[in-house]
Amino acid sequence: MAAEVTGLDLRQLLDTPTRNAVLEAFHGNQILVFRDQDLTKDEQIAFTEQFGTLERHALSNRGTSDSPFVHLVTNLDVAGRPTGKLGSTRWHSDKSFRPAPSMATVLHAKILPPNGGDTCFANMYAAYEALDEAERGELDALKVVHSWELSRENIDRKLSAEEIADAPPQTHPLARVHPETGRKGLFMGMHASHLEGMDMAEGRARIEALEVHATQERFTYRHNWRVGDLLMWDNRCLLHRADPNFDVALYPRVLHRTCLRGTPTV
Ligand code: OGA
Ligand code: MN
Repeated sequence: MAAEVTGLDLRQLLDTPTRNAVLEAFHGNQILVFRDQDLTKDEQIAFTEQFGTLERHALSNRGTSDSPFVHLVTNLDVAGRPTGKLGSTRWHSDKSFRPAPSMATVLHAKILPPNGGDTCFANMYAAYEALDEAERGELDALKVVHSWELSRENIDRKLSAEEIADAPPQTHPLARVHPETGRKGLFMGMHASHLEGMDMAEGRARIEALEVHATQERFTYRHNWRVGDLLMWDNRCLLHRADPNFDVALYPRVLHRTCLRGTPTV
């Protein structure tokens, strides 16, 4: 998991063979790391669009960005002061509560704390493949409900009726098949609410136990950011989270984020 791609200036559009090679590397490595990049928001949009269709952000998740497709991942308030709060610190897959969850997320580091503020990734192919055959068979038959409403409640945010209507709960296979590689991976994380047709508490306990299994260090990669890094990761086979391992109330951390729309899960 995770490969560094060298020799490209992402401000320029890629020629077709290069674009295809990047996509192949993306499917083979799940996370691509491009160092020393410096893209404006428009350039990041143009880079991202070479691989698919940009995704709008949830009503309640737009952040303070002047571009509808570039979400500011930041711990600063509108006046530029650190708020002491860092979002996305729990394991998740972006927009897994959508009928067609995100294919990929592109995150470009602009301002970083002197140390820490890492992003951690867990490989859901590896987590699935490490289970014994009997358990895999059992999980193959299960469906998981992902809910933005519940996931926000878990971080003490009550959504408005409009926000709930904008993102109703979605059912996905718990072991989903990646549409490009054909490999199976667990599909859960913080938006995963319960298992369909199973007692609520039992389903939640099962999801939580699977998350403990799936996020063991042997399945993870920790990205230690440098300003200028641009990461592109595959939400269809990974969980990720921000690590608040820095003084969030003191140091700014700002990254620009674009997402690509995925396909319905199978
Ligand atoms: C995201 C996200 C993690 C981070 O942008 O989707 O989860 O480290 N970011 O900021
Ligand atoms: Mn995320």
